[in-house]
Amino acid sequence: MKKLFRKKPIKDLLHKSDNLQLPKTLGAFDLILLGVGAIVGTGIFILPGTVSALHAGPGIIFSFVIAAIVCALAALCYSEFSSTVPVTGSAYSYSYIVFGEIIAWLVGWSLLLEYGLATAAVATGWSGYFTSLLEGFNIHIPLALTGAFSPEEGTYINLPAICIIFVIGILLTLGMKESARFNALLVAIKVGVILLFIGVGVFYVKPENWTPFLPFGMSGVFTGAALVFFAYLGFDAVSSAAEEVKNPQRNMPIGIIGSLFICTLLYVVVSLVLTGIVPYTNLNVTDPVSFAMQVINQEWAAGIISLGAVIGMMTVILVMMYGGTRLLMAFARDGLMPKIFAQLSPKRKTPVKNTWIFTIVISFFAGFIPLETLAELVNMGTLIAFIFVSAGILNLRKNKNLPPNGFKVPFYPVLPIVSLILCIFLITQLSMQTWAACGIWFIIGLIIYLLYGKRKSTLNR
Ligand code: ALA
Repeated sequence: MKKLFRKKPIKDLLHKSDNLQLPKTLGAFDLILLGVGAIVGTGIFILPGTVSALHAGPGIIFSFVIAAIVCALAALCYSEFSSTVPVTGSAYSYSYIVFGEIIAWLVGWSLLLEYGLATAAVATGWSGYFTSLLEGFNIHIPLALTGAFSPEEGTYINLPAICIIFVIGILLTLGMKESARFNALLVAIKVGVILLFIGVGVFYVKPENWTPFLPFGMSGVFTGAALVFFAYLGFDAVSSAAEEVKNPQRNMPIGIIGSLFICTLLYVVVSLVLTGIVPYTNLNVTDPVSFAMQVINQEWAAGIISLGAVIGMMTVILVMMYGGTRLLMAFARDGLMPKIFAQLSPKRKTPVKNTWIFTIVISFFAGFIPLETLAELVNMGTLIAFIFVSAGILNLRKNKNLPPNGFKVPFYPVLPIVSLILCIFLITQLSMQTWAACGIWFIIGLIIYLLYGKRKSTLNR
C-alpha cells in the first residue's frame, strides 16, 4: 500500500532541472503565441457547426463561455504548479510530487488518453477540410475512404486522417525543433483566416437565424460546454514550457489566461457569425466554416479558409503528438513503462521507436472512430487531469519545502475548490458510452501499473 503512494521527492526534480537548465527565453507574449498555436484547431473550425446543430443551437456561445471559465480556473491551478515546480511532464509530474505514484500514473494515463485521442480527433477534423479543399481543385477522394467506419453512411476508413498522422510522425522523428518563429507564422495564418471569416460573414448575418436562441434549453448549453471544452485544450502545453520562461511568477498566468481570453473571443464571435449566416439546423457538416462561405457564394473565401484550417490544424496535431510521445518518455524514465519508450535514436536524438509506436496506434483510432466520440473521450481524460491539478493545489500549499516565491492562485482555497466542482460537473455531462470506454481505459492502466510499473519503478531503488 505504502509503495502505491510513494512520492517523488520534490528536491530531486528541482535539482535535476538545475543541472540541465534550459535557457530562460520565453516572455508573456511568446507564451500567448504558443498557447493560441496549441489551442486553436479543430475546435473552432468544426465544433461550432456540429455542436450547435445537435446540442446547443446559437446558444453555443454560452457553452464556449462556460467551458472557458472552467479552463481558466484550472489554468490558474496549472500556473501555480508550473511556477512553483517548473518541471516538464505537466499534471503527471505534479501528481507524482503531491499524491504519489499510483495517482500520478493514473493522471498520466488520462493525459495519454487526452494527447493520443486528441491527435486522432484533430486529424479527423483535418481530413474534413482537406477533402473539401481538394474538391475545390476538382480532386475527389472516394467517399468510402473519407470517414470513420460507418457503412450506413458509406464510409469505411478515414485515409487522409491516417496519412496526416504519419506525415507528422515522420516530422517528429526527424527532430523538428519547435521554432518560435515558425509557430508564430502559423498562428498568424490561423488567426488570419478566422478574422477573414468574421470580416466577410458579418455582412451576411440574418438575425432571424438566431431565434430560437436556445432551442435545446440550458441543458443543451451544458452538454455543449462539455463538448466544446475540447476547443480549449492545449493551454496545458503552455504550462509545460514553465522551465523556459523568464519571470514565470508573472509571465505564466499572463500567458495562460491571455491565450484563453483571445481564444474565447474568437470562438464566440465565430459561433455568432456562423449561426447568423446559416440556420443552426443545417450546420452538421464536416467543414462548417467554409461551408457557410459557400452558402453565401463566397467561394474564394471558402477556399482560403479551408487552406488556413488545414495548415492550422497541422500545428495542433504536432503539439499533441509531441506531448504524447514525451509523456511516454517520462513514464519510461520513471520505470513505469518499458525502456524502449525512452530510447533516443543516436543519430536524430529523438525517441524514434516511441514515436512510431504512438503513430501506428493513434492512426488506427483516427481511421475508424468518428470525431464526436473521440472528442468526448479526450474531454474526459483532460477533465480528470484537471480535477487532480485543482485538488493538488490544496495539497501543494501544505508542502513547506517549496520555493515560496511562485505564482499563487488567488482566493485560495475557494478557487481551486470551485474549479474542482466545475470539472466534476462537466464530466457528468458526458455520455454513458464515454464513461464506459473511459472505465475500460483505466482498468487497463491499472493492470499495467500493478503488473509492470509497481515492480519496475525507479523509486524502488
Ligand atoms: N484545442 C484543440 C483544437 O481545437 C485541441 O483542435
